[in-house]
Amino acid sequence: MLRNRTIWIVTTLSLWPALAVSAEEEITYSNQVSRIIQENCQICHQPGGIGPMSFTNYDEVRPWAPLIRLKVSEREMPPYQYDHDIGIQELKNDWRMSDEDINTLVAWVDAGSPIGNLEELPPAKEFPVPGEFYFAEELGPPDHIIKSEKWDVPASGQDYWWEPRVPTGITENRCIKAVETIPSAAASGSTHHGVTTLLTLDENGEWEWNSLLSEFAMGKLGEKIPKGACRVAPANSMVEWSIHYYPDGNAVADDQVTVGIWYYDEEDDFDEETAYFQDVDNYYLSKNGESDDYLIPPHGKLMTQGFHSFDHPVRLDSWQPHMHLRGVAMSMEIFYPATGRTELLSKVSNWSAGWNHSHTYEEGFQPLVPVGAIIVLTGWHDNTADNPWNPDPDQWVTSGQRTGDEMSHAWIAVTHLDEEGYQKLQAERKDSEARTVAILGKVELND
Ligand code: HEC
Repeated sequence: MLRNRTIWIVTTLSLWPALAVSAEEEITYSNQVSRIIQENCQICHQPGGIGPMSFTNYDEVRPWAPLIRLKVSEREMPPYQYDHDIGIQELKNDWRMSDEDINTLVAWVDAGSPIGNLEELPPAKEFPVPGEFYFAEELGPPDHIIKSEKWDVPASGQDYWWEPRVPTGITENRCIKAVETIPSAAASGSTHHGVTTLLTLDENGEWEWNSLLSEFAMGKLGEKIPKGACRVAPANSMVEWSIHYYPDGNAVADDQVTVGIWYYDEEDDFDEETAYFQDVDNYYLSKNGESDDYLIPPHGKLMTQGFHSFDHPVRLDSWQPHMHLRGVAMSMEIFYPATGRTELLSKVSNWSAGWNHSHTYEEGFQPLVPVGAIIVLTGWHDNTADNPWNPDPDQWVTSGQRTGDEMSHAWIAVTHLDEEGYQKLQAERKDSEARTVAILGKVELND
């Protein structure tokens, strides 16, 4: 439509271009663009945010207009890398912009980025303060807060791992509603990523692995557990932290990373008795990653695949690809051995290590996996100079933990169903056939 308009101006009204444009409702900063920038960009592009420049008024936005046009039309900004034309599209906390908003921004830049009538500006938007919980606006303050032990972040250096154990202070088993991990405001630029796991005492009085609590990575906002699923926060447990710092030039003394937990309670109309157990785990190439062994040659590429199945039906609630600097894309599919059919669930074709999102499927759109079906995780790694994140294409790259090593796995939140629960969910989906069609382009989700 926009293109048609341009052609029309050039061919029939080239003598009166100003007249032709004003005949259409002009897109201006004040009437439309400011709202789009508020909703999609300012959370990071404001003073103290993680974006390198602030976009809170026209004077700040205007000099960047050409670069904004480029980044937005290539869907590099907002940084939410998830394919918009394939797989399940119904995601919670989805930062992707609508085509309409992208077109509006592009047309505005092409028209010379006019400011318009300042009286049409929307009121300023309020945002959570860095170092505060993003979910707090919606859920209130967390019911429970756990902090890592203090650590002095140096100004420079390479990878640092800080792995203290801290008692949770949880006194009774509760079902988690939401969990969010936040770095301190001062160290938010160097807290690269962190994992918290829960430990409980075994019968010999030794602390043993119980479950994953939360996974935080730069740009990740936390996680909500769907109603009807119970992710247990066990009583008398311990949190084991694994925090990965990568100094960004600012030394921070006594730094602490914080986990906030919100619990389900009666007000949520939540029944602990009938809820199915949910957990988040790492799905490697091999079962527990111990034999994930591969080498990527200098200037070479590699595709990896991991296969996973369950002895009971499950529902997949969220998916978060994890690779390192050579990782460029990942997909998740379901393969049905009985029919030989494969369905693509989710794909990120332009993945980058700078952003780690947990893609949480909306209620009613989470994939249901019957017994015997196989989850296929495919990762693509690019060790050539074409990969802008590649620190050194001349190196052999092995699998491993360091930033310069490669990884290929996904964190998946799985609700463990039984046959009854599975059939019930299937029946609910069939009732809303229209929605099911939207998921995978097929009425029958499974055979
Ligand atoms: C989640 C945080 C976040 C959001 C939301 C976000 N940005 Fe950014 N943006 C960043 C960060 C961090 C960088 C610098 C690193 C990078 O380029 O990835 C950046 C960089 C940029 C750059 C400069 C790129 C360069 O090459 O110098 C532009 C332009 C930009 N963003 C525009 C936008 C626009 C427009 C929006 C909204 C439509 C937006 N961003 C939304 C975090 C964000």
